[in-house]
Amino acid sequence: MSFPKNFMWGASSSSAQIEGAYDVDGKGLTTWDYDKKRINPGCCSFKYASDFYHHYKEDIALMAEMGFKMFRMSISWSRIFPNGIEEEPNKKGLDFYRDVFEELKKYNIEPLVTISHYDTPLYLEEELDGWKNRKLISLFDRYTEVLFNEYKGLVKYWLTFNEINSLLMFKDFIPNMSKEDIANNYQALHNQFVASARAVQRAHSIDPEYKVGCMIAGACSYPLTCAPEDVLKNQKKMQDSFYYCGDVMVRGEYPVFAKRLWKEDNVNLEYTEEDIKDLKEGKVDFFSFSYYSTTCTSADKNVAKDGLGNFSLGSKNPYIQYSEWGWGMDPIGLRYYLNEIYNRYEIPVMVVENGLGAIDELTEDKKVHDQYRIEYLREHIKAMEGALEDGVDLIAYTPWGCIDLISASTGEMKKRYGFIYVDLDNEGNGTMKRYKKDSFEWYKKVISSNGEELGL
Ligand code: BG6
Repeated sequence: MSFPKNFMWGASSSSAQIEGAYDVDGKGLTTWDYDKKRINPGCCSFKYASDFYHHYKEDIALMAEMGFKMFRMSISWSRIFPNGIEEEPNKKGLDFYRDVFEELKKYNIEPLVTISHYDTPLYLEEELDGWKNRKLISLFDRYTEVLFNEYKGLVKYWLTFNEINSLLMFKDFIPNMSKEDIANNYQALHNQFVASARAVQRAHSIDPEYKVGCMIAGACSYPLTCAPEDVLKNQKKMQDSFYYCGDVMVRGEYPVFAKRLWKEDNVNLEYTEEDIKDLKEGKVDFFSFSYYSTTCTSADKNVAKDGLGNFSLGSKNPYIQYSEWGWGMDPIGLRYYLNEIYNRYEIPVMVVENGLGAIDELTEDKKVHDQYRIEYLREHIKAMEGALEDGVDLIAYTPWGCIDLISASTGEMKKRYGFIYVDLDNEGNGTMKRYKKDSFEWYKKVISSNGEELGL
């Protein structure tokens, strides 16, 4: 079975990691600008990133050359409402994204727009305590209302919050997180669920053509052994870090195991009757997720937690390979995971992030021979083909980092994901010139053959 005729091939990015121009044309600061701890000392700054803000025409032309059908990008809330609280939107911010959407339209590239990709306006975080505060729900209402009215006819697919489940994954990933912080994260997450569900309803009422999806970090894990204790522990981990969010957003209500979780983590969730109604009426139209790696769960406390993934930590799987950054690479896991998701939710699925963060070398003749990336992506595409054979309604694939951009977890430029190399180093030196990597030509063939020519 091959990929469906209208399959949407493309790639993915986020505003903070690609745009730069952090204070240009009225933009306010975001949590990325203040969360300096995230940025390794000496690393290139999020302030300038890959400067998509000034290179978007050139970058979109390169995407078109690869034959993209879809480009996933995010809107920076603080370009539209610099502090998140203004009554009127910033016109220059709106114009920038309008120009980008029109440029994409020129080449028939469908934008897939994340409304919030880890970049809450800094003011909301510092003065209002971020998403723990219900007030953010109404501010998000105003923000999404502006977007849905403004970009009618230019955008069809929206995602509300990037990797919404990361808030719960942090309790395993960040060592010694306080009980209070963990409980607060459940509240913040609830407020995001409500904001998201209200956005879904609003989108549908503004334009019935709009499709709104959830975006969940694909935290797939296996039991380390077939010991029943490991199997049970892993089941719980999948519920806690993944299905908790998927169930609320797709089914419109908290799953039964939520009560167990709240008890374990001492959570007294504050919610209203209206929230319950909103969740029910704001179910998403499709399911999207990021997928980089898998981890293993062991019930034995003596087993090391030495297997890393995207915001996930578990035991190392002896059957898979690990990347330079220690992330487990598991293409078969993608097929497994797609089946799990689709059979549980039965709505269309998109893989909106996937890829290999690696150190690329620009040769003297300005080439990048990234065969390792080609191999990684090829195996994952084969796995998606397998999932299609299994009957999964997979409609899009937008691997991470269309062009090189700054790493979210380490703040490094040298952890590159793109098909297009950006001449910029960790210290911020470079010309910002773009060069096509070997994977560029390879992906172009993949797209033009609709996944038939994988260069085996
Ligand atoms: C996802 C995020 O967690 O993984 C992206 O949505 C991020 O923002 C990507 O960049 C890859 O992670 P990293 O840490 O290698 O940049």
